[in-house]
Amino acid sequence: MDMKSKLNMDVVNAPMSGIRKIADSVAQMKGIIRFDLGEPDFDTPKHIREAAIKAIHDGFSHYTVAPGIVELRKAIAEKLKNDNSMEYDPETEICVTAGGAGALYCGLQSIVNPGDEVIIPDPAWPVYLGILAILEAKPVFVTIKEKDKFNMLPSEVEKKITPKTKCIVVNSPSNPTGGVMSEENLRGISEIAKRHEIFVFSDEAYEKLILGGTKHVSIGSLPGMRDLTINQFTLSKTYAMTGWRLGYCAAQKDIMAPIRKVSLYSITHVSSIVQKAAVAAITGPQDCVKEMVEEFKVRGKILADGLNATGKISCIVPEGAFYVFANISQLNMKSEEFVLKMIKEAGVSAINGSSFGASGEGYVRFCFANSRENIKKAVVKIQDFVKTL
Ligand SMILES: Cc1ncc(COP(=O)(O)O)c(C=O)c1O
Repeated sequence: MDMKSKLNMDVVNAPMSGIRKIADSVAQMKGIIRFDLGEPDFDTPKHIREAAIKAIHDGFSHYTVAPGIVELRKAIAEKLKNDNSMEYDPETEICVTAGGAGALYCGLQSIVNPGDEVIIPDPAWPVYLGILAILEAKPVFVTIKEKDKFNMLPSEVEKKITPKTKCIVVNSPSNPTGGVMSEENLRGISEIAKRHEIFVFSDEAYEKLILGGTKHVSIGSLPGMRDLTINQFTLSKTYAMTGWRLGYCAAQKDIMAPIRKVSLYSITHVSSIVQKAAVAAITGPQDCVKEMVEEFKVRGKILADGLNATGKISCIVPEGAFYVFANISQLNMKSEEFVLKMIKEAGVSAINGSSFGASGEGYVRFCFANSRENIKKAVVKIQDFVKTL
């Protein structure tokens, strides 16, 4: 039987993330200082872990309502009001999802039809491309540049609008660049969305990881944007909970209704126990987040200064997330070749910028969710390695 011809070719042919390719091969090696995968190295704070353990002991082990327990949706609505200046009704406008990734999938599936165009940043988190391929939508790239502090410029977005444009994906703070969108640029994009009646999908996975002077603004809080924006958040990065798989989505109720359906038909709901832990995370003390951000600020600076000291790699100190997106164009090497050689010869891993899109070529993403000691050690190794090139 010709098995392949019987499968869904959109899924078969959807691109695989280059991040996994590097990460999976590095995972087999010993002694590598890892800057490849994008996840906090901290443990989930104790009060959150205890809430999960309590939920288990309390026998909170049955199905919950599909969009998430009321207690959690109410906590999310309060958080969105206080932290993001957005009002969404927990009854009808919030859905707890399987990580931010779940919110993204349910959100895009609910608005995108085959042939629709979706504007995404380039470079970007590769998952956008994968989902759009499965949905038979066309990605339209807007290059984001180092000289613009890795902001997506409204003037560039405007050039890409066509009658088929369905949605603009905004990701701030950004993976892979560490850029944070200025309020002015977000306002510019919001004006375009309103004028052309286009949705905005706002990926705010790194909202709390603000390391520089640019304040985080939720585009959905800007005038007239509440009903046009699908807002995605996650506990993964804020509370070092990547493995727990809990995120959430907020949107106007007519958009939320299909989002809830996609979530229901794919996962039913997020684990009951994890939902209880999420209540503790969102309503509990937030010092753990502050401490983590302070640590990331120090680490980002050590890494950026160390890379700049090579004289051949240059980078800006990141404004957000936990990534340095370093410019290696002076070395006249493809980013993939650089990364593979660095892993082999220096014992330090990172991800080639080309994994995040064509405009990522000439850059390498270093995730500094690693200890200060390891970052310092790695910087020396990278400096020695670069001298050999
Ligand atoms: C830009 C961006 N958005 C969303 C996510 C989703 O994370 P999760 O599904 O763990 O919540 C990630 C994770 O790496 C990310 O980098």
